[in-house]
Amino acid sequence: MKKRDYSRVLAVLAEEYTRRSPRSASINREALRVLVDGGSHTIRLLRPFPPRIREARGACVTDEDGHRILDFWQGHHANILGHNPREITGPLAAAFAKGFGLQSGFTDSLQVQVAETLCSRTGAERVRLTSSGSLATMYAIMLARAATGREKVLKIGGGWHGAQPWGLVGVDYHAENSHSFQHAESRGLPSAVADQVLVTGFNDVGMLEEQFRRYGPGIACFILEPFMGSSGSLPATMAFLKTARDLTRKHGALLIFDEVISGFRFCAGSTSRLFSIQPDLATFAKIMGGGMPVAAVAGRSEVMDLAGKAGGVKFSGGTYSCHPAAMLASITMMRHLVDREAEIYPRLAALGDEARRTVEESLRSEGLQARCTGYGNDALPGSSMASVHFPFDESCPCSSPEQTRNPEVCDVELSDTILQLALLLEDVFVMHGLGSVSVAHTGEDISRLGDACRRAARKIVSLAEA
Ligand SMILES: Cc1ncc(COP(=O)(O)O)c(C=O)c1O
Repeated sequence: MKKRDYSRVLAVLAEEYTRRSPRSASINREALRVLVDGGSHTIRLLRPFPPRIREARGACVTDEDGHRILDFWQGHHANILGHNPREITGPLAAAFAKGFGLQSGFTDSLQVQVAETLCSRTGAERVRLTSSGSLATMYAIMLARAATGREKVLKIGGGWHGAQPWGLVGVDYHAENSHSFQHAESRGLPSAVADQVLVTGFNDVGMLEEQFRRYGPGIACFILEPFMGSSGSLPATMAFLKTARDLTRKHGALLIFDEVISGFRFCAGSTSRLFSIQPDLATFAKIMGGGMPVAAVAGRSEVMDLAGKAGGVKFSGGTYSCHPAAMLASITMMRHLVDREAEIYPRLAALGDEARRTVEESLRSEGLQARCTGYGNDALPGSSMASVHFPFDESCPCSSPEQTRNPEVCDVELSDTILQLALLLEDVFVMHGLGSVSVAHTGEDISRLGDACRRAARKIVSLAEA
């Protein structure tokens, strides 16, 4: 595929979008006065302005202008049952009616049940709960640094572990660096952090061995996603995870699986169960919270106990940790997924396959040479996640962030910006080219997605080549 200049495409799409969304445009003008950039999460603030949502149910959201939008973002991939499923909202409404729900500042039996379920479904021995994935990965790294008495954190280039100091290095692609992901992403970080974080390549066994050979005695932990989410729906290979387990053990470092996206997405528990590789610590959030702010660090008791009174790691959880309504949503969600595991996950995997195939075929039929990632591998049976890439060279496998996030290799502007806006004009919402299917999506939704992709691609190609 050739490189294109999208300035005219973007201008035409933005004009059409502005015309058909006057309410969202007007709210955005108000928002810009009081909220930084008009909102509170960068990724939601698409240009020229985001659709303001007033209702969300099942596979769709409805915006202030009345558009019913088929949604493949599903609450940053948290909503595996779709938006506001009755399985969760029913028990929450009943609890609020009985005087249980908002933060009490006490402790209750629900968090015990959440922790028991998490242990039994992930192989962890002990859990501490908090309220965001970013906090969970930060606490997990603090635990690892305390347990080993070492400074360095090894992560994957392109890996997103949330906005916390050690997570803010090596996320975005930077062509000018020798290793394109060795870069601090935020101003205001302690300068030591950039030196403490080492970056390695995804599924690159040789580079991992080299990093441990060079820095092994200083490495506190290796943190990675067994299935990379935001870098392009990429599954880790069994060989890579086995090497990670062996090398961390050999060098006295801890292995941390960040399962904030992958937890409860491929089965009713951790992917470590599917890979048969047990990390020392794992982090969970998103799906396990049932749409509420719940996150957890779970792992070996000897390490987790460092978060206790005698352990000295200040992992206190926060005011809103174990929020009662959130605990109720969490246990309800996890039990639902455990009870229906045999039915839900094969269906999601099949629908994911259908979505990937449909999107690829639809875009290609109109001249956009798309490649969808998110297919399972030998350990992960199949996946509900999908990302679309547009490699300039058809032979590119799109198998690592060095490819999927490099604008010289893949047309990142097309997948992340242009296609998103063009599909929104078709009342379909995607992120990084696609997103995830939920239990609420149907085969008809996938056909609708395919039709929308065809129309969007036709429009993009004709505008770009006019
Ligand atoms: C793999 C991974 N880890 C951590 C986080 C941070 O979680 P949160 O947004 O809940 O802070 C995210 C968020 O997208 C994530 O994808």
